Amino acid sequence: MIVAKTIREVREHVAQWKREGYTVGLVPTMGYLHEGHASLVDRARKTCGKVVASDFVNPTQFGPNEDLEAYPRDFSRDCALLEEHGCDLVFYPSVEEMYAPNAATYVEILSEMPKQLCGKTRPIHFRGVCTVVSKLFNIVQPDYAFFGQKDAQQLAIIRRIARDLSYGIEIIGCPIVREADGLAKSSRNTYLSPAERQAALVLSKAVFLGQEMVEKGIRDAKELLAAMTAVITAEPQARIDYVSAVDGETMQPVEEVRDGVLVAMAVYIGKTRLIDNFIVGGVR
Ligand code: PAJ
Repeated sequence: MIVAKTIREVREHVAQWKREGYTVGLVPTMGYLHEGHASLVDRARKTCGKVVASDFVNPTQFGPNEDLEAYPRDFSRDCALLEEHGCDLVFYPSVEEMYAPNAATYVEILSEMPKQLCGKTRPIHFRGVCTVVSKLFNIVQPDYAFFGQKDAQQLAIIRRIARDLSYGIEIIGCPIVREADGLAKSSRNTYLSPAERQAALVLSKAVFLGQEMVEKGIRDAKELLAAMTAVITAEPQARIDYVSAVDGETMQPVEEVRDGVLVAMAVYIGKTRLIDNFIVGGVR
């Protein structure tokens, strides 16, 4: 696997591959990789001739009081996992390589979409995500890019910028990978103490209950969200940020739970903010 630390190296390798007729897939990550990330690499491996992953903790998507400094990092372990899953190149830039000191250009969706759900407590988050993903799209110029449904609002937002800015990149959404007991895999799970790790199961319990209720034919969002909320509030260590049912494209709240509706939550377990969700009818 090639380790590229500069934009120029990435461009050179990708240009060569394109001349040779390969399709190129991009898997953007912030590192500290786990099976969730690996599933995206596997999917890219199946879809594309060459697979590029990026490993970059992007400062512009962290708010001033968020966990940028504490965010877990282990590049040599990431490399081992990527290599094992058949990644061809990992882009591992420094902050200086990605952002010139006077960088002042951002990509931002000017609709309600990034202000809903996670946008309410993380007002600059999606602007940072859109900016870094746009830069990665420009640097790698992939044919396909792979994102997890774990971050469902992010996935919807990326689909929107890919369309609005005519990137010509096919965005592929991949299902949530979970631990054996249900907890959605996340780099941030490492922040949890053993007791918190146990308490964190309320998120997936609420998701599974919600899915069951929808399967049984319950369509009233209020009823669904009330039952899911009750599961979470029964856990003393859990503090709800939001539990919402929204249109899967616009992120606007819905009253009726139909196919394509995103049922999503963010819950603090101690100081750690975790997210989980399901899409009625599955990922598209
Ligand atoms: P990160 O949190 O590292 O996630 C990278 C990708 O892995 C995202 O598309 C995310 O949805 C996916 N992912 C994480 N956990 C997953 C799980 N349990 N199952 C399936 N997919 C999972 O998301 C980011 O980084 C950043 O915002 C990024 C897009 C890289 C921009 O900086």
